Amino acid sequence: MISKLKNIKIIVTAGPTREYLDPVRFISNESSGKMGYAIADLLYHYGADVTLISGPVAIKSSLPIENIVQVKTASEMYDACKNHFDTTAIAIFSAAVADYRPQFQSDCKIKKADQVATVTFIKNVDIAFEFGKLKTDQQIAIGFALETNDIIENATKKCKTKNFNAIVLNSPKEGEGFGFDTNKVAILNNKGKIKFFPLKSKQEVASDIINELIQIL
Ligand code: CTP
Repeated sequence: MISKLKNIKIIVTAGPTREYLDPVRFISNESSGKMGYAIADLLYHYGADVTLISGPVAIKSSLPIENIVQVKTASEMYDACKNHFDTTAIAIFSAAVADYRPQFQSDCKIKKADQVATVTFIKNVDIAFEFGKLKTDQQIAIGFALETNDIIENATKKCKTKNFNAIVLNSPKEGEGFGFDTNKVAILNNKGKIKFFPLKSKQEVASDIINELIQIL
């Protein structure tokens, strides 16, 4: 029942984050943002009140500009999400948030010096985990997981720890997931039920995820 989504407040995180070493250098990851954007666009199309909180990506969304919050770092993404934690009905965490950032960020461009350079990293805030701690029974959280081993066991643990209602398992294989237009997912809910889907376009996967969400609503 797509009508359940009409005017419902939803936040979607998408894309990578950048963790800066100095004003011109950062570490990041391969996330294209395509999966999160496909979800946000389809939810908006169904009449939901969507806020897309996006790391730096090269793609466009069909959402009005005022519904998109552009961020760069994990810390900025957290601040943007936090503003919506109390009021959102649903949170979908599809961003590939960097788990660590350099402990020190130089204000000036770092000059080369020794043969070996060492960077110390410190942990970033886990946005989904923080929402999971505050989430009421009326709020819904859906997360993503990219696992290479002990897939079901790790995803079940992640679902529990972060208090997700369901978790979408991505494939790390060539042609699926990160950076590609297609994705092969499984959706595991917090009751331990798992559904496997074939390789599909990210628009079709977005539709499968939204169908799952409607069943939780
Ligand atoms: N996530 C988040 N904030 C972070 C890290 C992850 O919101 N700092 C969210 C992701 O958007 C995703 C879920 O948590 O929905 C799982 O992310 P993932 O990177 O698979 O798991 P981690 O908790 O980072 O664990 P690990 O990398 O050790 O598998």
